[in-house]
This record gives sequence, structure tokens and C-alpha cells, in this order.
Amino acid sequence: MTAKRPLNVVKIRKMKQQKEPLTMITAYDYPSAKLAEEAGIDLILVGDSLGNVVLGYDSTIPVTLDDMVYHSRATARGAGNTFIVADMPFMTYHGSIDETLRGVRRLMQEGHAHAVKMEGGLEIASAVKAIVQAGVPVLGHIGLTPQSVNTIGGYRVQGKDAEDAKRLMNEAKALEEAGAFAVVLELVAEETAAAISRELSIPTIGIGAGRGCDGQVLVFHDVVKYASPYMEKRFVKTFADIGSQIRGGIEDYVNEVKSGAFPAENHVFKADEGVGESLDSLYGGGRSEEKPAHAGDGTSDKKKVGAQA
Ligand code: KIV
Repeated sequence: MTAKRPLNVVKIRKMKQQKEPLTMITAYDYPSAKLAEEAGIDLILVGDSLGNVVLGYDSTIPVTLDDMVYHSRATARGAGNTFIVADMPFMTYHGSIDETLRGVRRLMQEGHAHAVKMEGGLEIASAVKAIVQAGVPVLGHIGLTPQSVNTIGGYRVQGKDAEDAKRLMNEAKALEEAGAFAVVLELVAEETAAAISRELSIPTIGIGAGRGCDGQVLVFHDVVKYASPYMEKRFVKTFADIGSQIRGGIEDYVNEVKSGAFPAENHVFKADEGVGESLDSLYGGGRSEEKPAHAGDGTSDKKKVGAQA
């Protein structure tokens, strides 16, 4: 576990100058945020990948501002010393600036985020500028932008040919000019992402964008293999297999209840002597004098934790 140091946009920019890689992970609730902070992560993203990995949708499009506010607030409670960025969800920043700022206000005031993230390049530059001018840090996001999956033809690697690479470079520069404090590059060819990272003075944070980025971001559920639907993606590395452990633990619980091994003697609370019998004689219980064959005596209860009063 690393000692915690609160970050801000000035320090984030300095980390690029000092060539210190930025670490970012998504989190969506109190426990995931708490564990990420305890592990020493630099930034937490309350991503709208929430839709896929927590809410069970097949894209980020159904995620609402209410969803983001609710999960951002829970995340902030779990990681009070970490810089938290919350995603602006689908179609909440393409209308009027007033409407956009209302959404930003909710993520900051109700969701307790320190910054917002938005997908897009040139077409959102004026919205980015207005938000930054209102005093809110903005994290850009270009390359594969899941909110536009229906117009970019699926989840395809971006910036592979010279023309597309130039397009991405221009988008990154437009975001920098508009005042973004960093840019996420998602699913971008390594050489293109590295060139963008060299060109920008603000940090790039890559996901599936190779080794030339100034930092990396991954989805929490992918990192720890927690029932993630993204698992087959090549850019994901699994660092723990918590899903199997959770499944195994629940299987053990089910089996021990079925066999009568749980709850055992040390998990129960005792009434005064004779209370059970007197209730039986009053209410007619205890017709079967025999203890059920499966009743737990604790002998097969290998993984018990102490009973909590
Ligand atoms: O929503 C999300 O998790 C993201 C990351 C993949 C960068 O946008």
C-alpha cells in the first residue's frame, strides 16, 4: 500500500513534465473506490462504463446523469483523498451550454467529482472551453468513443492510417487549446498515440493506446476479473482473479447451508436455559425430538469467521 497524496490538475501536468506515469482506474461505488485509493491510484474515473460492468447494459448509451451522480457520490465517499473524474453521459453536452453546465454542476455538487470527462474532439471544444472557464477541469476522450459507437462502426482501433492519425492529432490539439487538463486516448494505434503524447503539453492517458502515453487507465472489473464483459479484449491485463474467489466463496456458502455445516455453534446466540423448551410446550413445537441429520456442529466449517454480535 502506498501513502496517499492528493492530486490536482497542476500536479497532474507536472507529472508529465517529470515523466512520472499517471495511474487511473475506474470505480463506481464505495468499496471499489476505497480499495483503489488504498492501493495508491493517482486518479479515479467514475466512467460511464458503469453501464456495461455494473448496470448490465450492452453499451454506455443508456447511462443517465442521475446514474452518474449517484455512483460518483458513492465513489467520492470511498476515496476522499483521490482526484475523481466523472463521465458526462450520452447526450448531456451536445445541447445548449446552459444545459451542459447544469449537468456539470450536478456531477460536482451532488456527485462530489473534481473534474468531468467528455468524449469527442473539435465538435465539443466550445463546450470544453465553457466548462473550464466556469472553473471545472475537463478530461478529454478521443479515439474509440463508446458513446458514438453507432456512428464509428463498432469498437475498432483508431488512428491506424495517416489520415485518421492526423484527425486524432487535430482533435487532441483542439482539446488542449480548449483547456482540457489531460486527454484519454482509447483504442488508438501505438505510434499515433505516442506522437500525440509527444506533441501535447498536457498528459495523455491511454487505454489500448500503447506504451507512449503519459498514463494508463483500465476498467476496475477488468483489472481484477470481476465478472467483466470486456475480458477478451487484447489491451486488458488481468492483475487478480477476484471473480473466481467470490464465486468460490458463494459456492462454499451455498454448500454449507445445504449440508448444515453453517451456521455452526460459534455463529449463534444462546437464550437463557429452558427458553426453547418452554416455547415449545406453549406453542406445540418440538414435535420432532430429533436433531436434523444435517445440523451443523462446526466440524466441517473450515473457513468460518467470528460471529459478530
Ligand atoms: O467509461 C470508462 O470507463 C472510460 C474509460 C474506458 C476510459 O471512459
